[in-house]
Amino acid sequence: MSGRPSASRRTVLRGAALTPVAGLALSACAPGGDGASVAATPTGPVELGAESEIAKGGAKLYRDHNVVVSRGADGALKAFSTICTHAGCPINKLQGTTLVCPCHGSQFDATTGKVVQSPATEPLQELAVRADNGKVVAGPGA
Ligand code: FES
Repeated sequence: MSGRPSASRRTVLRGAALTPVAGLALSACAPGGDGASVAATPTGPVELGAESEIAKGGAKLYRDHNVVVSRGADGALKAFSTICTHAGCPINKLQGTTLVCPCHGSQFDATTGKVVQSPATEPLQELAVRADNGKVVAGPGA
């Protein structure tokens, strides 16, 4: 039958018409949405867990909040953002008091925030931290 040529021409036309629609869909996604998948340091105080979980001279990594909290020999708490200062990956590994970035292998001291192993060169961002009724609270305003 002779239906085929016109059908294929219609397909071509429809394909061309779709292009601007795809462009619109793309730009509609761009402005940022809910941002839930972007790793970030707390923007306000967050309750992390029991203070008793952090031993003197030890550290604990709170992956869900991208925070590490350590306790010095004197019992004082310190908190740091675990967003790597090299290229922004969330650090997901704590070996003793050494944080290891999964992206390019930078290492940081969880008790000082300092770089132990490059490629990172900048220390981790320090956060305010306090103990509140046996709970550790860290982040701006804590
Ligand atoms: S982002 Fe952490 S080492 Fe590159």
